[in-house]
Amino acid sequence: MKNKKITRKISQGMYVLTTKNGGCIVDAVSQISAGDHPLISVSVMKNNYTNQLLKENDKFALSVLGKDVNAEIITTFGMNSMRDINKFEKVETEEVEGVKVINDSLGYMVCEKIDSIENETHTLFIGKLIEADLFEDKEAMNYGYYQENKNDLIKVTTEKGKTAWICTICGYIYYGEELPDDFKCPKCGVDKNLFEKKESGV
Ligand SMILES: Cc1cc2nc3c(=O)[nH]c(=O)nc-3n(C[C@H](O)[C@H](O)[C@H](O)COP(=O)(O)O)c2cc1C
Repeated sequence: MKNKKITRKISQGMYVLTTKNGGCIVDAVSQISAGDHPLISVSVMKNNYTNQLLKENDKFALSVLGKDVNAEIITTFGMNSMRDINKFEKVETEEVEGVKVINDSLGYMVCEKIDSIENETHTLFIGKLIEADLFEDKEAMNYGYYQENKNDLIKVTTEKGKTAWICTICGYIYYGEELPDDFKCPKCGVDKNLFEKKESGV
């Protein structure tokens, strides 16, 4: 492949996907039909606890993150698992159709799950929009912007004096000069080419 970075030009936003008892950051969202109740799809890694929850629940919500969102929302929901922490503890939410949505967002879409498609690593959940609101008509954060600016937005602290490799998807940190040949992220399963090197942390 000559340069996979071109995929960052696919317009994707940044969302907090929530369902009963959990949620995570997603960018892999698209609207797949129009009308009053459009269909919306979201692709969720099988390793994520949210995937398991989505299989047990019939509704999900997508809170749309603005460009000026508090980055703690991204670290809380995108770099931690609800298996280990209560992500909702320090984040203000309101409940819509039985699903928590994030107050620090531009608005939300609540969907009723109607279908799902499995592939090797992800499940594509398809939902019908049943409720939506716009809190603020401001610029949304897109995934390309997040990737270009994540070093300023997210402060990842690594151990002093050690070379670290940070997963650009979930924030997992591997310590070592080089990543092993067939390395895959033990947290989110992505290939080693999605890791970025950080020399001797501070
Ligand atoms: C910028 C960003 C984008 C992400 N996009 C997705 C995505 O589209 N789909 C997905 O399944 N996980 C995505 N993730 C990873 C999950 O948010 C992450 O693995 C999370 O810790 C899972 O939490 P859970 O185990 O509570 O479900 C993304 C993370 C970040 C930081």
